[in-house]
Amino acid sequence: MSTTVGEQDSDRVTSSQVPLLSLRGITKHFGPVQALQGVDLDIPRGQVTALCGDNGAGKSVTIKIISGIWQQTHGDLVWEGERIELHTPREADHLGISTVYQDLALCDNLDIVQNMFLGHENLRHHLLDEISMESYARKTLADLSVTTVRSVRQLVASLSGGQRQAVAVARAVMRDAKLVILDEPTAALGVTQTAQVLQLIRTLADRGIAVLMVSHNLNDVQSVADRIAVLHLGRMVSEGDVAEYDTQSIVQLMTTGERGEVVPDRLRPPVVEIAPEV
Ligand SMILES: Nc1ncnc2c1ncn2[C@@H]1O[C@H](COP(=O)(O)OP(=O)(O)O)[C@@H](O)[C@H]1O
Ligand SMILES: [Mg+2]
Repeated sequence: MSTTVGEQDSDRVTSSQVPLLSLRGITKHFGPVQALQGVDLDIPRGQVTALCGDNGAGKSVTIKIISGIWQQTHGDLVWEGERIELHTPREADHLGISTVYQDLALCDNLDIVQNMFLGHENLRHHLLDEISMESYARKTLADLSVTTVRSVRQLVASLSGGQRQAVAVARAVMRDAKLVILDEPTAALGVTQTAQVLQLIRTLADRGIAVLMVSHNLNDVQSVADRIAVLHLGRMVSEGDVAEYDTQSIVQLMTTGERGEVVPDRLRPPVVEIAPEV
């Protein structure tokens, strides 16, 4: 069941101006623990939105609500301008919400094609249609400009961290994803692989997909994100265009929940990188 929000405005607002997904006043209680308090967040198409915050800020709870794993205690999810309810991950999947979790959930003993089609295999005359799956997997990786994989018949166990991330992302977008959520996509990667994965994230957004990237890594955020949203102790303390934030103000928002004064670069103390959670 869904109801249109702001129906009277719908004629004046084109669909590209309406965020693909908006969170409005999302609150989540776990018994006495208030994990999220009145969180608002807009996730537009064709842009990378970085969701930042210190450990325990509420990033995972937020993405689990968007992925249909948990339901909010209060507040609304608004999808393409319509209020929706998500009860299961399957419902989120049907809308086109695809989440790449930190552990990637790939099967090491299977090859790239098998991983990408796991649970959604193409059949032909009741048999696996290996040829179509193989060519589709190859095309999806090529469309995403993933060029470092030698063969789609390689076992996933033999891939580098960046290649594994690329396969997980390819699997996520393969089934018409409109929103791809990535949880710390570069946390386990070296410099070159990080650059490749950030490039892949940019490609997703350039193809019109809405990307929500959970990240502690401010270099990643500043190099690939269009928008930033900072959670602090379950509250959304700042949301906006990433160009409006400098490193110091992001660190300050993440650690204190407040932005503080804008300090010129030359007067600024060195930035301490915050380690990703494990
Ligand atoms: N299943 C749960 N039961 C009780 N409290 C939870 C549960 N999951 C998360 N929390 C609490 O919600 C808050 C936010 O957690 P989380 O979203 O995991 O933070 P982050 O991902 O930003 O590190 C924390 O205080 C955490 O202890
Ligand atoms: Mg988390």
